[in-house]
Amino acid sequence: MWTHYGLTVLISSITVVLAQYQLGSAVKPSGHLAKRASLTQDVIRGVNLGGWLLTEEWITPSVYTSDAADEWHLCLDLGKKKCLSTLQDHWKSFFTRDDFEEIKEAGLNSLRIPIGYWAVDLQDDEPYVSGQYPYLIQAINWARELGLTVLIDLHGAPGSQNGQDNSGLIGPTLFPTNTSNLDRTINVLKNLTSEFSQTDIYGDQTVIGIELLNEPRLSNTFTMTQLKDFYTQASEAISGINTNMNIIMHDAFWGPQYWENYDPLPSSSSSSTNNDQFIIDTHQYYAFEPLNNLPHDIILEKVCNISKILKLTNQNMLPTIVGEWSLETGHSPNSSSSNLQNKNDNSQEKRTWFRLFFESQLAAYSPSSATNTMNSGQNQPSKGWYYWTWKTDYDIDTWSYRRGVQQGYIPKDVSNSSTYVFPILDNGCVDSTFNYTAPKKPGSSIGLVRYSPDWLLFIIASSFLAGFLCII
Ligand SMILES: *[C@@H]1O[C@H](CO)[C@@H](O)[C@H](O)[C@H]1NC(C)=O
Ligand SMILES: *[C@@H]1O[C@H](CO)[C@@H](O)[C@H](O)[C@H]1NC(C)=O
Ligand SMILES: *[C@@H]1O[C@H](CO)[C@@H](O)[C@H](O)[C@H]1NC(C)=O
Ligand SMILES: *[C@@H]1O[C@H](CO)[C@@H](O)[C@H](O)[C@H]1NC(C)=O
Ligand SMILES: *[C@@H]1O[C@H](CO)[C@@H](O)[C@H](O)[C@H]1NC(C)=O
Ligand SMILES: *[C@@H]1O[C@H](CO)[C@@H](O)[C@H](O)[C@H]1NC(C)=O
Repeated sequence: MWTHYGLTVLISSITVVLAQYQLGSAVKPSGHLAKRASLTQDVIRGVNLGGWLLTEEWITPSVYTSDAADEWHLCLDLGKKKCLSTLQDHWKSFFTRDDFEEIKEAGLNSLRIPIGYWAVDLQDDEPYVSGQYPYLIQAINWARELGLTVLIDLHGAPGSQNGQDNSGLIGPTLFPTNTSNLDRTINVLKNLTSEFSQTDIYGDQTVIGIELLNEPRLSNTFTMTQLKDFYTQASEAISGINTNMNIIMHDAFWGPQYWENYDPLPSSSSSSTNNDQFIIDTHQYYAFEPLNNLPHDIILEKVCNISKILKLTNQNMLPTIVGEWSLETGHSPNSSSSNLQNKNDNSQEKRTWFRLFFESQLAAYSPSSATNTMNSGQNQPSKGWYYWTWKTDYDIDTWSYRRGVQQGYIPKDVSNSSTYVFPILDNGCVDSTFNYTAPKKPGSSIGLVRYSPDWLLFIIASSFLAGFLCII
């Protein structure tokens, strides 16, 4: 999640200790490597398991018993021992098998699981604690049992790739400033690839890809050239272990079109024939500057505009997923539309808008064949999406997918297009002029909503009256 909070980014004081880091040798996977899981087999309809193996204060304020705003400082405040027990309790409870079952029931078929480098590689001078890895393994086993796929997403890199809470450490973007940070990151990616390429242990259709780095934030000191060098090195490392592992690269907010014809392995002959191994991840938010607080009609137009790009068939765009999106349109996760005071605002008007906004994005981020019969969707970049996020401590309405399902503004079974409300136009976007009003009561059956509640009352009253007249 790309947060601003409208705050000046805190420059954290980092104790610079020159520590020698030993590159652990990555284990080659045993057993046979299956064919690469194809992202094109099925539309990806996924959710992020945000705030779990890498915590964010706004997602789980209950974990943040100190004033810390990121996991680094939480552990710095609590000390390693207390931090480990706090986070162990959180890892154990925030996602359980029940959540995975609910995700499955909601018609979702994939999980994007964010994790920080410190789950794999932790130095003594870093306050973080480690212990997430067994939970990642558990998650992959549950996913496999339930037939869900998993995209593992390196959400926090040493030094931080964006200086935001979602990277674990708010402050300057020190990730690109030294090769030790880069080497450590590559090593973590090697570990994830080796571990989850063991098809005899994890199966061959569960882990469908590894995302190299979440939301790198480019600047004068973190250039596109540096990012691409990193993408090349990381792709070489992963391909060196498993040529079949899909590699997901965040677009660095430059948009999927910027990455047309991009090949992180230009010298490798295999990459040109296998180029759907490389996938671009673009995040589509209306929560952050300068796209926050826009009028709804402008938002819908922008959603339709990106939809057209994701469905272009005549360009050389890489396969693309929308790896994060939500219903937030305010200023930040703490904004008026999502703060705790508004938690119980279940107004019909709000749910009507949420339904429209959800279905607009659903249509925009899904390959067109999934929602529209007008365009068979051959060769379009769009492969699907991951909502941010499944839940939060207080199930903030604009960020918690499960709350949307409970309250009926997100379809109960998103895999079943007959449960959608809005018609799709020939251009692949929803018909936002369709006359729809959410049911008066949150969570009411979607089957009733096409009728206005007044009409419904009339029909119910008439049937009672008719029945009554029959009796007498
Ligand atoms: C690299 O940067 C990190 C901060 O991201 C710092 O802790 C570390 O000491 C630096 N290493 C070297 C070798 O400069
Ligand atoms: C990856 O790292 C984890 C956590 O340190 C470790 O348990 C696991 O054995 C490693 N896997 C490989 C293949 O190196
Ligand atoms: C949508 O795209 C069209 C064509 O590129 C452009 O003219 C329009 O301004 C865009 N709309 C918004 C709201 O950005
Ligand atoms: C978030 O909202 C709470 C309660 O409304 C408020 O006290 C706090 O200052 C806000 N934080 C930020 C960063 O805006
Ligand atoms: C899809 O939804 C429709 C409308 O609610 C329902 O009648 C149908 O049984 C559902 N199909 C499946 C496969 O669940
Ligand atoms: C939408 O439908 C309701 C109920 O049928 C009706 O009262 C209202 O006038 C309609 N609005 C538009 C813009 O057609």
